[in-house]
Amino acid sequence: MLAGMSQWLTLSRAAHLLGVSRMALQKRIREGELPSFDGMVTVDDVQRTWPELDLEESGSFEQTRAIREDAFARRLRERVLPTQEALAQRLFAQGQELAELQRTLTRYHQLFESLRGRLDTLPAPTAADLARQLDEGLAQALSVPAPGGDMAALDAMLRVMSAHVTVKPSGREFFVEGSETLLKAALRAGLAPNYGCGNGVCGLCKARVVAGETRDVAPSDYRFSEAEKAQHHVLMCSCTALSSDLVLEVLEAGAPEDIPEQRIVAKVRRIDALNADVMRLHLQTPRSNRLRFLAGQRVTLGIRAGVRDGSDVHGEFPVASCPCDDRNLIFHVSRTDPRAASADFSACLFDGRIRLADDVSVWGPWGTFVLENTSPRPLVFIAVEQGFAPINSLIEHAIAVDAAESITLYWASAQPGGQYLPNQCRAWAAALDEFSYLPLAVDELAAALDANPALAASDVYLAGAASQVDALAAALLAAGVPPRQLHVEPL
Ligand code: FES
Repeated sequence: MLAGMSQWLTLSRAAHLLGVSRMALQKRIREGELPSFDGMVTVDDVQRTWPELDLEESGSFEQTRAIREDAFARRLRERVLPTQEALAQRLFAQGQELAELQRTLTRYHQLFESLRGRLDTLPAPTAADLARQLDEGLAQALSVPAPGGDMAALDAMLRVMSAHVTVKPSGREFFVEGSETLLKAALRAGLAPNYGCGNGVCGLCKARVVAGETRDVAPSDYRFSEAEKAQHHVLMCSCTALSSDLVLEVLEAGAPEDIPEQRIVAKVRRIDALNADVMRLHLQTPRSNRLRFLAGQRVTLGIRAGVRDGSDVHGEFPVASCPCDDRNLIFHVSRTDPRAASADFSACLFDGRIRLADDVSVWGPWGTFVLENTSPRPLVFIAVEQGFAPINSLIEHAIAVDAAESITLYWASAQPGGQYLPNQCRAWAAALDEFSYLPLAVDELAAALDANPALAASDVYLAGAASQVDALAAALLAAGVPPRQLHVEPL
Protein backbone atom coordinates (compact mmCIF):
# COMPACT_ATOMS: atom_id res chain seq x y z
CA MET A 1 0.00 0.00 0.00
CA LEU A 2 1.46 3.35 -0.99
CA ALA A 3 1.34 6.52 1.08
CA GLY A 4 -1.64 8.66 0.18
CA MET A 5 -3.62 5.74 -1.21
CA SER A 6 -6.66 4.71 0.79
CA GLN A 7 -6.85 1.08 1.83
CA TRP A 8 -9.75 -0.88 0.33
CA LEU A 9 -11.74 -3.47 2.24
CA THR A 10 -14.33 -5.98 1.11
CA LEU A 11 -17.67 -5.65 2.92
CA SER A 12 -16.98 -8.91 4.77
CA ARG A 13 -13.63 -7.65 5.99
CA ALA A 14 -15.05 -4.27 7.08
CA ALA A 15 -17.97 -6.01 8.85
CA HIS A 16 -15.52 -8.36 10.57
CA LEU A 17 -13.40 -5.42 11.74
CA LEU A 18 -16.33 -3.40 13.04
CA GLY A 19 -18.18 -6.35 14.54
CA VAL A 20 -21.36 -5.35 12.69
CA SER A 21 -23.26 -7.36 10.10
CA ARG A 22 -22.82 -6.87 6.37
CA MET A 23 -26.52 -5.97 6.38
CA ALA A 24 -25.71 -2.91 8.53
CA LEU A 25 -22.95 -1.86 6.12
CA GLN A 26 -25.20 -2.35 3.11
CA LYS A 27 -27.89 -0.20 4.74
CA ARG A 28 -25.40 2.69 5.13
CA ILE A 29 -24.35 2.24 1.49
CA ARG A 30 -27.97 2.31 0.31
CA GLU A 31 -28.63 5.43 2.34
CA GLY A 32 -25.64 7.14 0.74
CA GLU A 33 -23.68 7.44 4.00
CA LEU A 34 -20.91 5.04 3.04
CA PRO A 35 -19.40 5.26 -0.46
CA SER A 36 -18.62 1.93 -2.09
CA PHE A 37 -17.10 0.80 -5.33
CA ASP A 38 -17.53 -2.66 -6.80
CA GLY A 39 -18.45 -4.12 -3.40
CA MET A 40 -15.47 -2.50 -1.67
CA VAL A 41 -15.21 0.36 0.85
CA THR A 42 -12.19 2.35 1.99
CA VAL A 43 -10.78 2.30 5.51
CA ASP A 44 -11.10 6.12 5.61
CA ASP A 45 -14.80 6.06 4.68
CA VAL A 46 -15.55 3.30 7.18
CA GLN A 47 -13.80 5.27 9.91
CA ARG A 48 -15.73 8.42 8.94
CA THR A 49 -19.05 6.55 8.96
CA TRP A 50 -18.43 4.91 12.35
CA PRO A 51 -16.38 7.60 14.16
CA GLU A 52 -18.03 6.78 17.47
CA LEU A 53 -17.30 3.06 17.41
CA ASP A 54 -15.02 1.99 20.21
CA LEU A 55 -13.95 -1.44 19.11
CA GLU A 56 -12.79 -2.46 22.54
CA GLU A 57 -15.92 -1.42 24.38
CA SER A 58 -18.67 -1.67 21.83
CA GLY A 59 -21.53 -3.67 23.31
CA SER A 60 -22.87 -4.39 19.87
CA PHE A 61 -19.60 -5.99 18.88
CA GLU A 62 -19.57 -8.25 21.91
CA GLN A 63 -23.27 -9.00 21.64
CA THR A 64 -23.14 -9.79 17.95
CA ARG A 65 -20.11 -11.95 18.40
CA ALA A 66 -21.80 -13.82 21.22
CA ILE A 67 -24.93 -14.34 19.13
CA ARG A 68 -22.94 -15.53 16.18
CA GLU A 69 -20.83 -17.88 18.20
CA ASP A 70 -23.93 -19.34 19.77
CA ALA A 71 -25.60 -19.59 16.39
CA PHE A 72 -22.73 -21.18 14.56
CA ALA A 73 -20.99 -23.34 17.03
CA ARG A 74 -23.48 -23.78 19.88
CA ARG A 75 -20.63 -24.10 22.25
CA LEU A 76 -18.14 -21.89 23.90
CA ARG A 77 -15.33 -21.32 21.45
CA GLU A 78 -12.04 -20.05 22.66
CA ARG A 79 -10.39 -17.48 20.50
CA VAL A 80 -7.02 -19.13 20.08
CA LEU A 81 -3.89 -17.84 18.43
CA PRO A 82 -2.79 -19.09 15.03
CA THR A 83 0.18 -21.43 15.06
CA GLN A 84 3.61 -19.89 15.65
CA GLU A 85 4.48 -20.68 12.05
CA ALA A 86 1.40 -18.81 10.74
CA LEU A 87 2.07 -15.86 13.04
CA ALA A 88 5.69 -15.69 11.91
CA GLN A 89 4.75 -15.92 8.24
CA ARG A 90 2.05 -13.25 8.48
CA LEU A 91 4.24 -10.90 10.52
CA PHE A 92 7.07 -11.40 8.01
CA ALA A 93 4.71 -10.52 5.14
CA GLN A 94 3.58 -7.38 6.98
CA GLY A 95 7.21 -6.49 7.73
CA GLN A 96 7.97 -6.72 4.00
CA GLU A 97 4.99 -4.48 3.19
CA LEU A 98 6.15 -1.95 5.78
CA ALA A 99 9.72 -2.01 4.47
CA GLU A 100 8.45 -1.40 0.94
CA LEU A 101 6.30 1.44 2.22
CA GLN A 102 9.30 2.96 3.98
CA ARG A 103 11.42 2.73 0.83
CA THR A 104 8.64 4.45 -1.15
CA LEU A 105 8.36 7.21 1.46
CA THR A 106 12.11 7.75 1.43
CA ARG A 107 12.05 8.12 -2.36
CA TYR A 108 9.17 10.63 -2.10
CA HIS A 109 11.06 12.54 0.57
CA GLN A 110 14.24 12.67 -1.52
CA LEU A 111 12.25 13.90 -4.52
CA PHE A 112 10.54 16.55 -2.39
CA GLU A 113 13.84 17.78 -0.95
CA SER A 114 15.45 17.99 -4.35
CA LEU A 115 12.51 19.95 -5.83
CA ARG A 116 12.46 22.19 -2.75
CA GLY A 117 16.20 22.87 -3.21
CA ARG A 118 15.73 23.77 -6.86
CA LEU A 119 12.97 26.24 -5.96
CA ASP A 120 15.47 28.18 -3.83
CA THR A 121 17.63 28.70 -6.93
CA LEU A 122 14.79 30.14 -9.01
CA PRO A 123 14.01 33.89 -9.23
CA ALA A 124 11.63 35.41 -6.65
CA PRO A 125 8.84 36.16 -5.96
CA THR A 126 6.94 33.21 -7.58
CA ALA A 127 9.42 30.54 -6.48
CA ALA A 128 9.58 31.88 -2.90
CA ASP A 129 5.81 31.87 -2.74
CA LEU A 130 5.67 28.31 -4.05
CA ALA A 131 8.34 27.20 -1.57
CA ARG A 132 6.38 28.73 1.32
CA GLN A 133 3.19 26.97 0.20
CA LEU A 134 5.04 23.67 -0.02
CA ASP A 135 6.52 24.05 3.47
CA GLU A 136 3.16 24.98 4.98
CA GLY A 137 1.34 22.21 3.14
CA LEU A 138 3.85 19.62 4.31
CA ALA A 139 3.74 20.86 7.93
CA GLN A 140 -0.05 20.68 7.90
CA ALA A 141 -0.15 17.23 6.33
CA LEU A 142 2.24 15.89 8.96
CA SER A 143 0.37 17.47 11.88
CA VAL A 144 -3.11 16.08 11.11
CA PRO A 145 -3.66 12.45 12.08
CA ALA A 146 -4.50 10.41 9.01
CA PRO A 147 -8.17 9.37 8.89
CA GLY A 148 -8.70 5.66 9.19
CA GLY A 149 -5.67 5.25 11.45
CA ASP A 150 -7.39 3.03 14.01
CA MET A 151 -9.14 1.00 11.37
CA ALA A 152 -5.93 0.50 9.43
CA ALA A 153 -4.13 -0.64 12.59
CA LEU A 154 -6.98 -2.99 13.43
CA ASP A 155 -6.98 -4.40 9.92
CA ALA A 156 -3.23 -5.01 10.22
CA MET A 157 -3.92 -6.90 13.45
CA LEU A 158 -6.75 -8.86 11.83
CA ARG A 159 -4.43 -9.90 9.02
CA VAL A 160 -2.11 -11.46 11.60
CA MET A 161 -4.77 -13.08 13.79
CA SER A 162 -7.22 -14.32 11.14
CA ALA A 163 -6.72 -15.47 7.59
CA HIS A 164 -9.08 -14.22 4.91
CA VAL A 165 -10.19 -16.84 2.39
CA THR A 166 -11.83 -16.11 -0.96
CA VAL A 167 -13.64 -19.03 -2.58
CA LYS A 168 -13.76 -19.57 -6.31
CA PRO A 169 -15.90 -19.67 -8.35
CA SER A 170 -18.61 -18.37 -5.97
CA GLY A 171 -16.57 -15.39 -4.76
CA ARG A 172 -17.72 -15.98 -1.17
CA GLU A 173 -15.38 -15.13 1.67
CA PHE A 174 -14.68 -16.46 5.14
CA PHE A 175 -12.18 -15.96 7.95
CA VAL A 176 -10.07 -18.64 9.61
CA GLU A 177 -9.59 -18.04 13.34
CA GLY A 178 -6.62 -19.45 15.23
CA SER A 179 -5.57 -22.72 13.69
CA GLU A 180 -9.05 -24.08 12.96
CA THR A 181 -9.42 -26.13 9.78
CA LEU A 182 -10.56 -24.56 6.53
CA LEU A 183 -13.62 -26.84 6.59
CA LYS A 184 -14.72 -25.74 10.05
CA ALA A 185 -14.24 -22.06 9.20
CA ALA A 186 -16.14 -22.42 5.90
CA LEU A 187 -19.10 -24.16 7.59
CA ARG A 188 -19.17 -21.51 10.32
CA ALA A 189 -19.51 -18.85 7.63
CA GLY A 190 -22.50 -20.65 6.09
CA LEU A 191 -20.73 -22.15 3.08
CA ALA A 192 -21.68 -25.63 1.89
CA PRO A 193 -18.39 -27.15 0.68
CA ASN A 194 -18.28 -30.73 -0.50
CA TYR A 195 -17.11 -33.05 2.29
CA GLY A 196 -17.66 -36.45 3.85
CA CYS A 197 -15.81 -37.93 6.82
CA GLY A 198 -14.41 -34.67 8.17
CA ASN A 199 -11.48 -36.79 9.19
CA GLY A 200 -8.90 -36.83 6.42
CA VAL A 201 -9.97 -40.17 4.93
CA CYS A 202 -12.52 -39.82 2.11
CA GLY A 203 -10.91 -36.99 0.12
CA LEU A 204 -14.27 -35.36 -0.64
CA CYS A 205 -13.25 -32.03 0.86
CA LYS A 206 -10.43 -31.54 -1.65
CA ALA A 207 -9.83 -27.91 -2.63
CA ARG A 208 -7.26 -26.35 -4.96
CA VAL A 209 -5.07 -23.61 -3.54
CA VAL A 210 -5.05 -20.85 -6.15
CA ALA A 211 -3.04 -18.35 -4.05
CA GLY A 212 -1.54 -18.35 -0.56
CA GLU A 213 -0.24 -21.12 1.65
CA THR A 214 -1.83 -23.73 3.92
CA ARG A 215 -0.52 -26.03 6.62
CA ASP A 216 -1.71 -29.42 7.88
CA VAL A 217 -3.15 -29.31 11.41
CA ALA A 218 -4.80 -32.76 11.55
CA PRO A 219 -3.61 -36.18 10.41
CA SER A 220 -4.87 -37.48 7.08
CA ASP A 221 -4.78 -40.92 5.44
CA TYR A 222 -5.89 -39.69 2.05
CA ARG A 223 -3.25 -40.00 -0.70
CA PHE A 224 -3.24 -37.37 -3.43
CA SER A 225 -2.36 -38.35 -7.00
CA GLU A 226 0.73 -36.75 -8.55
CA ALA A 227 -1.55 -34.56 -10.69
CA GLU A 228 -3.45 -33.36 -7.61
CA LYS A 229 -0.20 -32.56 -5.84
CA ALA A 230 1.02 -30.62 -8.85
CA GLN A 231 -2.23 -28.63 -8.87
CA HIS A 232 -1.84 -27.77 -5.14
CA HIS A 233 -4.83 -29.70 -3.84
CA VAL A 234 -5.36 -29.82 -0.07
CA LEU A 235 -7.92 -31.36 2.27
CA MET A 236 -10.06 -28.65 3.86
CA CYS A 237 -10.75 -30.85 6.89
CA SER A 238 -7.11 -31.28 7.81
CA CYS A 239 -5.39 -28.00 7.04
CA THR A 240 -5.54 -24.38 8.06
CA ALA A 241 -4.40 -21.13 6.44
CA LEU A 242 -0.78 -20.16 6.84
CA SER A 243 -0.79 -16.91 4.89
CA SER A 244 -3.19 -14.10 5.79
CA ASP A 245 -4.86 -14.22 2.38
CA LEU A 246 -5.85 -17.42 0.66
CA VAL A 247 -7.75 -18.13 -2.54
CA LEU A 248 -9.29 -21.60 -2.84
CA GLU A 249 -11.16 -23.35 -5.60
CA VAL A 250 -13.90 -25.30 -3.81
CA LEU A 251 -16.74 -27.53 -4.91
CA GLU A 252 -19.85 -26.17 -3.14
CA ALA A 253 -23.37 -27.58 -2.88
CA GLY A 254 -25.75 -25.19 -4.58
CA ALA A 255 -28.97 -27.11 -4.07
CA PRO A 256 -30.42 -29.99 -2.00
CA GLU A 257 -29.76 -32.49 -4.81
CA ASP A 258 -26.01 -31.87 -4.35
CA ILE A 259 -26.14 -33.37 -0.85
CA PRO A 260 -25.93 -37.19 -0.76
CA GLU A 261 -28.28 -39.30 1.34
CA GLN A 262 -26.53 -40.42 4.53
CA ARG A 263 -27.20 -42.91 7.33
CA ILE A 264 -25.64 -42.21 10.68
CA VAL A 265 -26.10 -43.55 14.18
CA ALA A 266 -26.05 -40.67 16.67
CA LYS A 267 -26.25 -40.65 20.47
CA VAL A 268 -28.78 -38.80 22.58
CA ARG A 269 -26.74 -36.11 24.27
CA ARG A 270 -29.49 -34.18 26.00
CA ILE A 271 -33.27 -33.95 26.31
CA ASP A 272 -34.99 -30.94 27.81
CA ALA A 273 -38.45 -29.48 27.88
CA LEU A 274 -38.84 -26.16 26.06
CA ASN A 275 -42.39 -25.92 27.39
CA ALA A 276 -45.10 -28.39 28.40
CA ASP A 277 -45.60 -29.53 24.79
CA VAL A 278 -42.20 -29.23 23.11
CA MET A 279 -39.01 -31.15 23.86
CA ARG A 280 -35.54 -30.28 22.61
CA LEU A 281 -33.70 -33.41 21.51
CA HIS A 282 -29.95 -33.00 21.13
CA LEU A 283 -28.19 -35.74 19.17
CA GLN A 284 -24.46 -35.99 18.65
CA THR A 285 -22.95 -37.83 15.72
CA PRO A 286 -19.62 -39.70 15.86
CA ARG A 287 -16.63 -37.43 15.21
CA SER A 288 -15.82 -39.24 11.97
CA ASN A 289 -19.38 -39.50 10.65
CA ARG A 290 -21.19 -36.17 10.73
CA LEU A 291 -24.39 -35.17 8.99
CA ARG A 292 -24.03 -33.00 5.93
CA PHE A 293 -27.24 -31.05 5.27
CA LEU A 294 -28.55 -27.66 4.24
CA ALA A 295 -30.28 -25.37 6.72
CA GLY A 296 -34.04 -25.99 6.71
CA GLN A 297 -33.86 -29.67 5.66
CA ARG A 298 -35.48 -32.63 7.45
CA VAL A 299 -34.16 -36.04 8.45
CA THR A 300 -35.75 -39.31 9.51
CA LEU A 301 -35.01 -40.34 13.09
CA GLY A 302 -35.39 -43.95 14.15
CA ILE A 303 -34.94 -45.91 17.34
CA ARG A 304 -34.59 -49.62 17.77
CA ALA A 305 -37.34 -49.71 20.35
CA GLY A 306 -36.96 -53.50 20.25
CA VAL A 307 -34.47 -53.14 23.08
CA ARG A 308 -37.44 -52.23 25.21
CA ASP A 309 -40.63 -53.35 23.45
CA GLY A 310 -39.64 -55.18 20.27
CA SER A 311 -40.41 -52.65 17.52
CA ASP A 312 -38.75 -49.92 15.45
CA VAL A 313 -40.12 -46.40 15.62
CA HIS A 314 -39.45 -43.68 13.07
CA GLY A 315 -40.36 -40.04 12.57
CA GLU A 316 -39.40 -37.25 10.21
CA PHE A 317 -38.27 -33.98 11.78
CA PRO A 318 -36.71 -30.73 10.56
CA VAL A 319 -33.23 -30.12 11.93
CA ALA A 320 -33.52 -27.00 14.08
CA SER A 321 -29.78 -26.36 14.27
CA CYS A 322 -27.35 -24.94 11.78
CA PRO A 323 -25.24 -27.06 9.35
CA CYS A 324 -22.22 -25.16 10.67
CA ASP A 325 -22.28 -27.54 13.65
CA ASP A 326 -22.62 -30.84 11.84
CA ARG A 327 -22.01 -33.00 14.94
CA ASN A 328 -24.65 -31.51 17.22
CA LEU A 329 -28.14 -31.89 15.78
CA ILE A 330 -31.07 -30.24 17.54
CA PHE A 331 -34.75 -31.15 17.06
CA HIS A 332 -37.90 -29.55 18.51
CA VAL A 333 -40.30 -32.42 19.07
CA SER A 334 -43.95 -31.67 19.78
CA ARG A 335 -46.13 -33.77 22.08
CA THR A 336 -49.00 -33.33 19.64
CA ASP A 337 -47.25 -33.95 16.34
CA PRO A 338 -49.97 -33.61 13.68
CA ARG A 339 -48.22 -36.11 11.39
CA ALA A 340 -49.25 -39.68 12.15
CA ALA A 341 -45.88 -40.95 10.87
CA SER A 342 -43.98 -39.00 13.52
CA ALA A 343 -46.42 -39.31 16.39
CA ASP A 344 -44.97 -42.61 17.67
CA PHE A 345 -41.44 -41.20 17.87
CA SER A 346 -42.77 -38.11 19.70
CA ALA A 347 -44.68 -40.36 22.12
CA CYS A 348 -41.49 -42.36 22.84
CA LEU A 349 -39.65 -39.14 23.68
CA PHE A 350 -42.40 -37.77 25.91
CA ASP A 351 -43.01 -40.98 27.81
CA GLY A 352 -39.32 -41.50 28.53
CA ARG A 353 -38.61 -44.42 26.18
CA ILE A 354 -35.80 -42.38 24.59
CA ARG A 355 -33.05 -41.72 27.10
CA LEU A 356 -29.63 -40.16 27.38
CA ALA A 357 -26.89 -42.05 25.47
CA ASP A 358 -29.43 -44.08 23.44
CA ASP A 359 -28.59 -44.71 19.80
CA VAL A 360 -30.80 -42.90 17.28
CA SER A 361 -30.55 -43.58 13.54
CA VAL A 362 -30.45 -40.45 11.43
CA TRP A 363 -30.99 -40.65 7.70
CA GLY A 364 -31.51 -38.04 5.07
CA PRO A 365 -31.41 -35.12 4.54
CA TRP A 366 -34.73 -34.48 2.81
CA GLY A 367 -36.62 -31.48 1.52
CA THR A 368 -36.05 -28.32 -0.44
CA PHE A 369 -36.98 -25.74 2.20
CA VAL A 370 -33.55 -24.10 1.98
CA LEU A 371 -32.27 -20.56 1.76
CA GLU A 372 -31.53 -18.90 -1.55
CA ASN A 373 -28.01 -17.90 -0.56
CA THR A 374 -27.41 -15.43 -3.31
CA SER A 375 -30.62 -13.43 -2.95
CA PRO A 376 -30.07 -9.91 -1.56
CA ARG A 377 -33.81 -9.44 -0.93
CA PRO A 378 -35.12 -8.89 2.63
CA LEU A 379 -35.93 -12.16 4.38
CA VAL A 380 -39.30 -12.73 6.02
CA PHE A 381 -39.64 -15.85 8.17
CA ILE A 382 -43.10 -16.94 9.33
CA ALA A 383 -43.25 -19.73 11.90
CA VAL A 384 -46.51 -21.17 13.13
CA GLU A 385 -46.06 -23.14 16.38
CA GLN A 386 -43.25 -25.74 15.94
CA GLY A 387 -42.72 -24.48 12.40
CA PHE A 388 -40.06 -22.51 14.24
CA ALA A 389 -37.70 -25.53 14.11
CA PRO A 390 -36.67 -25.28 10.42
CA ILE A 391 -36.99 -21.48 10.62
CA ASN A 392 -34.45 -21.47 13.47
CA SER A 393 -31.98 -23.36 11.28
CA LEU A 394 -32.61 -20.98 8.36
CA ILE A 395 -32.16 -17.88 10.53
CA GLU A 396 -28.89 -19.13 11.99
CA HIS A 397 -27.70 -19.84 8.46
CA ALA A 398 -28.92 -16.45 7.17
CA ILE A 399 -27.01 -14.68 9.94
CA ALA A 400 -23.89 -16.68 9.02
CA VAL A 401 -24.24 -15.90 5.31
CA ASP A 402 -25.03 -12.26 6.11
CA ALA A 403 -26.23 -11.37 2.62
CA ALA A 404 -29.85 -10.29 3.13
CA GLU A 405 -30.86 -6.67 3.51
CA SER A 406 -32.98 -7.38 6.60
CA ILE A 407 -34.58 -10.25 8.51
CA THR A 408 -38.10 -10.20 9.96
CA LEU A 409 -39.39 -13.09 12.05
CA TYR A 410 -43.10 -13.59 12.74
CA TRP A 411 -43.77 -16.41 15.18
CA ALA A 412 -47.43 -17.20 15.75
CA SER A 413 -48.88 -19.51 18.37
CA ALA A 414 -52.41 -20.31 19.52
CA GLN A 415 -51.15 -20.59 23.10
CA PRO A 416 -50.14 -17.52 25.09
CA GLY A 417 -46.37 -17.87 25.42
CA GLY A 418 -46.33 -20.69 22.85
CA GLN A 419 -43.15 -19.14 21.39
CA TYR A 420 -40.93 -21.52 23.30
CA LEU A 421 -37.57 -19.79 22.67
CA PRO A 422 -38.46 -16.11 23.23
CA ASN A 423 -35.11 -15.11 24.68
CA GLN A 424 -33.19 -16.38 21.69
CA CYS A 425 -35.45 -14.42 19.30
CA ARG A 426 -35.17 -11.27 21.39
CA ALA A 427 -31.38 -11.66 21.53
CA TRP A 428 -31.19 -11.82 17.73
CA ALA A 429 -33.23 -8.62 17.51
CA ALA A 430 -31.07 -6.92 20.14
CA ALA A 431 -27.78 -7.92 18.57
CA LEU A 432 -28.51 -7.39 14.89
CA ASP A 433 -29.54 -3.96 13.60
CA GLU A 434 -31.64 -5.29 10.75
CA PHE A 435 -33.46 -8.04 12.65
CA SER A 436 -37.10 -7.65 13.77
CA TYR A 437 -38.99 -10.15 15.89
CA LEU A 438 -42.80 -10.17 16.18
CA PRO A 439 -44.36 -12.80 18.46
CA LEU A 440 -48.09 -13.04 17.68
CA ALA A 441 -51.27 -14.94 18.34
CA VAL A 442 -52.25 -17.07 15.33
CA ASP A 443 -55.30 -14.90 14.61
CA GLU A 444 -53.13 -11.75 14.53
CA LEU A 445 -50.79 -13.08 11.87
CA ALA A 446 -52.77 -12.18 8.72
CA ALA A 447 -53.20 -8.54 9.80
CA ALA A 448 -49.52 -8.25 10.76
CA LEU A 449 -48.43 -9.57 7.34
CA ASP A 450 -50.85 -7.18 5.62
CA ALA A 451 -49.15 -4.32 7.41
CA ASN A 452 -45.71 -5.21 5.98
CA PRO A 453 -45.25 -3.09 2.83
CA ALA A 454 -42.04 -4.92 1.87
CA LEU A 455 -43.62 -8.38 1.73
CA ALA A 456 -43.88 -8.64 -2.06
CA ALA A 457 -40.25 -7.62 -2.45
CA SER A 458 -39.02 -10.18 0.11
CA ASP A 459 -38.09 -13.84 0.12
CA VAL A 460 -40.73 -15.39 2.36
CA TYR A 461 -40.18 -18.66 4.26
CA LEU A 462 -43.28 -20.12 5.93
CA ALA A 463 -43.36 -23.25 8.13
CA GLY A 464 -46.00 -24.84 10.34
CA ALA A 465 -48.74 -27.44 10.40
CA ALA A 466 -50.07 -28.10 6.88
CA SER A 467 -53.61 -27.18 7.95
CA GLN A 468 -52.43 -23.66 8.82
CA VAL A 469 -49.70 -22.86 6.33
CA ASP A 470 -51.65 -23.84 3.20
CA ALA A 471 -54.21 -21.06 3.78
CA LEU A 472 -51.48 -18.60 4.72
CA ALA A 473 -49.49 -19.42 1.59
CA ALA A 474 -52.57 -18.76 -0.57
CA ALA A 475 -53.08 -15.43 1.21
CA LEU A 476 -49.43 -14.45 0.65
CA LEU A 477 -49.68 -15.20 -3.07
CA ALA A 478 -52.91 -13.18 -3.25
CA ALA A 479 -51.10 -10.33 -1.48
CA GLY A 480 -48.58 -10.19 -4.32
CA VAL A 481 -45.66 -12.33 -3.11
CA PRO A 482 -44.27 -13.84 -6.33
CA PRO A 483 -44.49 -17.68 -6.26
CA ARG A 484 -40.73 -18.07 -6.77
CA GLN A 485 -40.12 -15.98 -3.64
CA LEU A 486 -42.46 -18.00 -1.44
CA HIS A 487 -41.04 -21.12 0.23
CA VAL A 488 -43.41 -23.25 2.26
CA GLU A 489 -42.70 -26.15 4.62
CA PRO A 490 -45.88 -27.91 5.76
CA LEU A 491 -45.08 -30.11 8.75
S1 FES B 1 -14.05 -34.70 4.56
FE1 FES B 1 -13.20 -36.66 4.21
S2 FES B 1 -11.14 -36.17 3.83
FE2 FES B 1 -11.99 -34.26 4.37
